[in-house]
Amino acid sequence: MGLFWHSCILLAIFLQVAIAASVPEQVHLAFHGDTSEMAVIWTTFYDGLHHVYYGTDVKNMNQVAIETSIKKWTSGSVTRYSHRAKMSNLKPSTTYYYKIEGRVFEFKTLSANPQSYRVCIFGDLGYEHGNSTDAIIRNGLNGQFDFIIHVGDIAYDLHTDDGRRGDAYMRRFEPLFSAIPYMVIAGNHENDGKNFSNFQERFWMPHNGFNDNHFYSFDLGPVHWVGLSSEFYGYDREYGKESIWTQYNWLNTDLKAAVSKRKSVPWIITYQHRPIYCSIDYNHDCSEFENTFLRSGALGLPGLEPSYIQSHVDLNFCGHQHAYERFYPVADRKYYTGVS
Ligand SMILES: *[C@@H]1O[C@H](CO)[C@@H](O)[C@H](O)[C@H]1NC(C)=O
Ligand SMILES: *[C@@H]1O[C@H](CO)[C@@H](O)[C@H](O)[C@H]1NC(C)=O
Ligand SMILES: [Fe+2]
Repeated sequence: MGLFWHSCILLAIFLQVAIAASVPEQVHLAFHGDTSEMAVIWTTFYDGLHHVYYGTDVKNMNQVAIETSIKKWTSGSVTRYSHRAKMSNLKPSTTYYYKIEGRVFEFKTLSANPQSYRVCIFGDLGYEHGNSTDAIIRNGLNGQFDFIIHVGDIAYDLHTDDGRRGDAYMRRFEPLFSAIPYMVIAGNHENDGKNFSNFQERFWMPHNGFNDNHFYSFDLGPVHWVGLSSEFYGYDREYGKESIWTQYNWLNTDLKAAVSKRKSVPWIITYQHRPIYCSIDYNHDCSEFENTFLRSGALGLPGLEPSYIQSHVDLNFCGHQHAYERFYPVADRKYYTGVS
């Protein structure tokens, strides 16, 4: 009997140490639905269902978001659990606190149907040599922008060192990403040789009907935002051409719906990792087959620009070139000046 209890106590102490050594981490927010909802995603290295308690009073977080999914996944030798939950019934322009396994975070909701807000858009940001990281975190926490769009190439790479690079990047940004939504799209560096699994498991973008993060849209005030994958074009030989069609058909349906409600949501802004136009140097991405393929289509496969033109997409953001440039209004390789 004595020995039994002794072992139990030892076991209890051991368990407590094991649990304390690992907590929910890499906590981040994303839009997933209308502004009354907020998705929260986090990672653990152990299994177990968590609840997210949230509310407007830090001493009384009286609403609860039950996890919608836990997914066990592996990258090399490391097993992770990716957790997803959705906080709902959020009031506009309100500070909320939320708690996951004792860790407390906070964020502020936008106003209902906000007509003015600020977004920080960047691409190609690494964990190492992330020269802009400090400024992004500082400005974000100072309220300089309301959400982030990262147009692909994340951490260089999410999957490096069995995903530890991705962990380090998401831990580094947790103070900011746990406070304002972090919207992402895949770049070529998100190809981990396993069908973008690190990208798919670590994030949770809005529903597209296909249960993945490759393409999606969301409305926020006067803008219909559309994120797309240029990587279906970049890796069609590796993963097949089917996804190009799937995305294309989805895009046309999505844009048609966006055009029909243009009176209330006048702007359409799209983004994808690779540029459909760029001028720096002479290279594959700006001038050769890869660029034509993505922009106009080739070999019987559709490109993105005809859909953009047909629906009068107002702006397009991209990354990949590690250079800053902007354009006059441009369509079908012609640019226009003096037009609205
Ligand atoms: C980024 O930071 C490193 C080290 O601080 C510095 O050597 C490098 O020049 C910086 N790069 C740019 C583009 O500012
Ligand atoms: C890759 O994942 C997508 C979903 O994101 C799926 O449609 C496709 O069939 C997968 N391709 C392969 C080769 O596994
Ligand atoms: Fe890239």
